[in-house]
Amino acid sequence: MKNYVIKGNICYSKTREELCITENGYIVCEGGRCAGVYETLPEEYETLPCYNYEDKIIIPGLVDLHVHAPQYAFRGMGMDLELLDWLNTHTFVEEAKYADLEYAEKAYDIFTEDLKNSATTRACIFGTIHTEATLLLMEKLEETGLKAYVGKVNMDRNSPKYLCEENAEKSVKDTEEWLMKSQRFKNIKPVLTPRFTPSCTDELLERLSGLQKKYQLPVQSHLSENLGEIDWVKELCPGTACYGESYDRYDMFGNNCPTVMAHCVHSPEKEIEMMQRQKVFIAHCPESNANLSSGVAPVKKYLEKDMKVGLGTDIAAGSSLSVLKAMVTAVQCSKLRWRLYDQSVLPLTMEEVFFMATKGGGEFFGKVGSFEEGYELDAVVFDDSKIKHPQTLSVKERLKRLIYLADERNITAKFVDGQVIFREN
Ligand code: GUN
Ligand code: FE
Repeated sequence: MKNYVIKGNICYSKTREELCITENGYIVCEGGRCAGVYETLPEEYETLPCYNYEDKIIIPGLVDLHVHAPQYAFRGMGMDLELLDWLNTHTFVEEAKYADLEYAEKAYDIFTEDLKNSATTRACIFGTIHTEATLLLMEKLEETGLKAYVGKVNMDRNSPKYLCEENAEKSVKDTEEWLMKSQRFKNIKPVLTPRFTPSCTDELLERLSGLQKKYQLPVQSHLSENLGEIDWVKELCPGTACYGESYDRYDMFGNNCPTVMAHCVHSPEKEIEMMQRQKVFIAHCPESNANLSSGVAPVKKYLEKDMKVGLGTDIAAGSSLSVLKAMVTAVQCSKLRWRLYDQSVLPLTMEEVFFMATKGGGEFFGKVGSFEEGYELDAVVFDDSKIKHPQTLSVKERLKRLIYLADERNITAKFVDGQVIFREN
């Protein structure tokens, strides 16, 4: 059913500064898209079925622009290293296990179930280098009704033997086979996923660029996360003026190639300008950046330049799959950055992180992340009544409190692209 009305306290972003709230309002869904938000229901819609959520709070579904599904199994463990040592000590060892489909089945069941029950409705997801395990992940996600991009990871250098593709040719051949097999999915779409420049030869990036052009695919990867990583890329790619150029020289950095780059913690001006000009999406992953001592990205600066910015949980460098938690961590880290390091970049506001978690990241999926007319209807209904308090609160106060205090146990219903994912009533 794609024509109906949802009633409740409706909160959504129009811009990063403008949070719209309609108390006891109505969202009209027509053909899976939002036809408008109303204080009183227009007569023409009165005959539509109505999900009445009374005093509950309704927000657009949250978008996780960067998450590693295979790493969910070791979240919360091995956080005492920086990026490159963390990858070699913990991450590659865990990801190698997905050559075993029995292990992948167990692990991806857990990830998929938790993602389904979370407030996330859309995600950009990394798999592993393994074609079959990645297809299994896509299959499981497809069944949830959530919408996501999923990538089979490419890596053909500087990786341990047990998690390194034979050569560029084989990596791209496997990728093309995986692309063909993933055509059967409706909700889950493939995204090219060169892990990051240190693990991809020039030949691999060049061949992937060929696939990108042939099939018009989006790309996701990592950028300027850690200082040691950035120095390494300089050595690996002589002649490039910045890390971003190592992707851009193969046309996988925005423009005609929709691109999400995770982190951008230490991007130099030249890289920032390129991302801005070429409309590269930045996945800001504050918890990951704290855990791996990477730093804090100057996100307010990116927002002020009207760059494309969303939030990522970056499991398992981030420990939590909750985008609500990412919103809170983003605010907290931005305050510390401002206080301790750089007073020229102001802290993020709650309005800004709400925008990033919804409409900001949602734009990568099209008209997603808002209840403005024409947006695909992704919604999450929160029951905050069990988070007790003694005073009278406005809806805006309740929303802000909920971002800090709510978890999946407070979710009453979830809709993606107009479809019910689950609901209590
Ligand atoms: N850079 C390359 N691979 C990874 C990864 O798995 N996680 C993070 N945070 N950064 C990376
Ligand atoms: Fe990552």
